Amino acid sequence: MGEPAVEFRDVSLQYRLLSERGIVSFKEWVIRRLTSKMTYQELIALSHVSVSVEKGRALGVIGHNGAGKSTFLRLAAGILVPTEGVAIMRGRLAPVIELGLGFEAELTGRENIFFNGALLGRSKAEMATRVDEIVEFAELADFIDQPIRTYSTGMVARLAFAVATTVDAQVLLLDEVLSVGDESFRRKCNERLESFRQAGVTILLVSHDLGAVQSICDEAVWLEHGLIRGHGPASEIVALYRTSVGDEAVVGGAVAPVSVVPT
Ligand SMILES: Nc1ncnc2c1ncn2[C@@H]1O[C@H](COP(=O)(O)OP(=O)(O)OP(=O)(O)O)[C@@H](O)[C@H]1O
Ligand SMILES: [Mg+2]
Repeated sequence: MGEPAVEFRDVSLQYRLLSERGIVSFKEWVIRRLTSKMTYQELIALSHVSVSVEKGRALGVIGHNGAGKSTFLRLAAGILVPTEGVAIMRGRLAPVIELGLGFEAELTGRENIFFNGALLGRSKAEMATRVDEIVEFAELADFIDQPIRTYSTGMVARLAFAVATTVDAQVLLLDEVLSVGDESFRRKCNERLESFRQAGVTILLVSHDLGAVQSICDEAVWLEHGLIRGHGPASEIVALYRTSVGDEAVVGGAVAPVSVVPT
């Protein structure tokens, strides 16, 4: 087995939030900053996370709202740099596909395809060869020349998924983007993800759709308050998580002790 596609070594990420309220102007901000009168609140979003994902594997990332899942993906994409530790990504990357990220509301769907492609480091010429395929997959032919502020959430998600999965990437990072599509689009997405898996693409999937995590992913990480609560085969981790949130109908039985399950 070669080097992992994604490797986190003892990664921590702290966000800094300005705790001051009532700063009304940039001038005031500069003055306070220069006179060190600014106070910050620090929020630890991820704490000492170590995870490796082998090439061609699919990792699900689950946990409550605010657990640190999107932060985890942004670190993998290099959008954020760890406060401590090292986050390594190997391979040609598609960015985090997160709703609202990398799209401009005033641009048309077609313009956004190029804009998004540029953010991915793909040339205009390369994107031009893929536009038709993207529009067809997203089933947005009738809307592609309208500004995307006129799109529904699901339509934006279709476009985002179609762009990211049409440029050829070795690592795909998906943040909750499948959940907003309708049933038939979800099926198409699942088929495409399956073919990517067959082709050896590494997938990181953040989702509250535990069924999707179970069916798409080999392994899963369960984050809680920025800590890894469990890591192991997707079905086991999903079952542990379900039990902990009281989803007894699915799992049944006693609450299992939570541990890091070796992969
Ligand atoms: N840009 C930011 N600045 C400050 N704090 C942030 C920022 N983004 C996230 N956080 C905080 O970091 C923590 C983890 O957030 P994150 O977005 O990673 O959670 P999540 O697991 O993706 O949640 P959700 O299921 O709601 O998408 C939260 O407490 C959140 O408030
Ligand atoms: Mg999130």
